[in-house]
Amino acid sequence: MKIKKLPLSADIETKKILKKSISANRALANLNGVANTIPNQNIIINSLVLQEAKDSSEIENIITTHDELYKSSIDSSNISQATKEVNSYAKALKEGFKLVKKHNLLLVKDIIVIQAILENNDAGIRKQAGTVLKNEDTGEVVFTPPQSENEIRELLSNLEKYINTGDDIDPLIKMAIIHHQFESIHPFYDGNGRTGRIINILYLVLNGLLDIPILYLSRYIIQHKADYYRLLQEARTKRAWEEWILFMLDGVEQTSKETIKMINAINNLMQVTARNIQEKLPKIYSKDLVDILFIHPYTKIEFLTDKKIVKTRQTASLYLKELENIGLMKSIKLGRNIFYINIELFNMLKNGVKLDTY
Ligand SMILES: Nc1ncnc2c1ncn2[C@@H]1O[C@H](COP(=O)(O)OP(=O)(O)O)[C@@H](O)[C@H]1O
Ligand SMILES: [Mg+2]
Repeated sequence: MKIKKLPLSADIETKKILKKSISANRALANLNGVANTIPNQNIIINSLVLQEAKDSSEIENIITTHDELYKSSIDSSNISQATKEVNSYAKALKEGFKLVKKHNLLLVKDIIVIQAILENNDAGIRKQAGTVLKNEDTGEVVFTPPQSENEIRELLSNLEKYINTGDDIDPLIKMAIIHHQFESIHPFYDGNGRTGRIINILYLVLNGLLDIPILYLSRYIIQHKADYYRLLQEARTKRAWEEWILFMLDGVEQTSKETIKMINAINNLMQVTARNIQEKLPKIYSKDLVDILFIHPYTKIEFLTDKKIVKTRQTASLYLKELENIGLMKSIKLGRNIFYINIELFNMLKNGVKLDTY
């Protein structure tokens, strides 16, 4: 079955969809509001981007652990291929954000750049036929995306127009359609799923629904992986557009709510940590020191000297040992280096924030 150009002919503004889009938009607006008032946006962005890189890659069975992921961004020796790929994902996402901000458009040429960073190669758009989509469990071919480069390019330029042309359709509804269309065009040999999920967030930024890139659907998709694959397929084969769009809107709503909790939890933890250090180690306390401990779940001596918290490595090392003595940090040895883990932050990022904990 050939895929059609956008816009869809299906009714994408059913009563159910419109109703759900209201609550999804409300949740997302709340998230954007919370994100705009937090003091240390970079800390939140960093943590969430890494989390998303990990989750989105996991959908494609590229599995890394939090441990390895965090270690890798401060010490890149001895890391696995999977962890390298996850780091490339984070890099691609950040670059995509910059490009959208720069062009105020989401262009196909930028999508090609994003995928190249992600995959660490410049194969670009498919030129050879043979790519098919299979059922993950049975291996049966469920869909054959366009095979000729010409057709792929034509569909992409149609998608680009759909993305960048304003109309009166809710951007969240359009995001669901764009994701489906992009995955169906499947323009690259590999990395289509991950690139498509980066496009989702960039589209929200482009439409002013988010000021900073912090809404990530991959955790939701992992939790509903079977539905994600089924609905991608059934939107096409059974015209289950309503169900597909509702699925994505629900993802936006739930994820927004969870992300607000996560941001609040990290903020609270920062305050608690600050008070703790003020009380127990007043001589070393400074706001900048607390910030450093939250830039990354792993801290090393250079973080303190680079940011001029202390002058010498000896003092930095002393500070970190004191923080370990009061139970805030835990040291681990990696090769010849010692790192200090912010235990609570690490657990929070690893396990997510449990409902009603904060
Ligand atoms: N039946 C389908 N119809 C459309 N898209 C699909 C279908 N099945 C899977 N996909 C998409 O294809 C992605 C996998 O494609 P792939 O190029 O291997 O991307 P990645 O390397 O990022 O996994 C999935 O994450 C999903 O988004
Ligand atoms: Mg793949």
